[in-house]
Amino acid sequence: MRVVDLDRDMSDVIPTGATRDSEYLFDRMTRATLAATLPGPGRRILDVASGFGQDSIALQELGASVVGAEPSERMIAWTRLKSGELAGEAPRWVRGWGDALPFATGSFDAAFCKGALDHFDRPALAISEMARVTRPGGRVVLTIANFESLSCRAARATDDLQEVGLGRQLRRGRRHYDVPADHFTRYDLPLMKEQAAAHLELELVEGLSLGWGLPVWTRSVGKLPPALAAGMLRALDALARSLPSLADVIVIAGRPRR
Ligand SMILES: C[S@@+](CC[C@H](N)C(=O)[O-])C[C@H]1O[C@@H](n2cnc3c(N)ncnc32)[C@H](O)[C@@H]1O
Repeated sequence: MRVVDLDRDMSDVIPTGATRDSEYLFDRMTRATLAATLPGPGRRILDVASGFGQDSIALQELGASVVGAEPSERMIAWTRLKSGELAGEAPRWVRGWGDALPFATGSFDAAFCKGALDHFDRPALAISEMARVTRPGGRVVLTIANFESLSCRAARATDDLQEVGLGRQLRRGRRHYDVPADHFTRYDLPLMKEQAAAHLELELVEGLSLGWGLPVWTRSVGKLPPALAAGMLRALDALARSLPSLADVIVIAGRPRR
């Protein structure tokens, strides 16, 4: 039996914009992912695990012809409701699993999956499906949280030192380095590259943001004057670009192997 919640919603997802570093990271994730699909008029783009559909809608508004595929009935219902309010043409919404995409081989110019692969029970199969439905020379884009980021490592080491080293009992809920209950896979750069390279000729491996979720950084950046905070977030982000193994989020893109 598949252990999958068909009625899931976003209740276990970190709220976007709750802190300055979160707001920055979620915005960067979206912009970097959408840009990596090389959007433009007439381009056929597939959004795998489209969730609430906001990324599909943004690409459709750039002139692309977008299909959002999502297995959750609740999410699809929400998306259809929201699409009805759009002035322009809405994306096409299809209920479907990432590992059994209901589309013909080579039907898209690009396929992307943002912040969702770690929720899949068969992520490697989903990547092979994304490569299959993307035409030769097209693009597959995968954006995923890095649980071996500098911030995860530093926070884990600090907690370990306090708990194990100093014997202190910390008041703690789930830390950002703890894998949420609805994730099947704990990704880091080597695993991400290994799974992607099995089906893609890699063209882009990029890191986004550094330090996200580290309590001392989250607090400090929240207190800085806005312009200074924005400058520091951008500087760390620029550093992360060439340090994907330490970055908070990894974007990988490539051409399907045939
Ligand atoms: C954290 S949400 C991300 C949604 C969206 N991509 C975004 O960035 O807002 C994870 C999504 O993965 C979907 N999902 C979980 N397992 C899946 C699978 N095997 N195939 C396709 N989608 C799946 C969930 O229904 C959910 O919409």
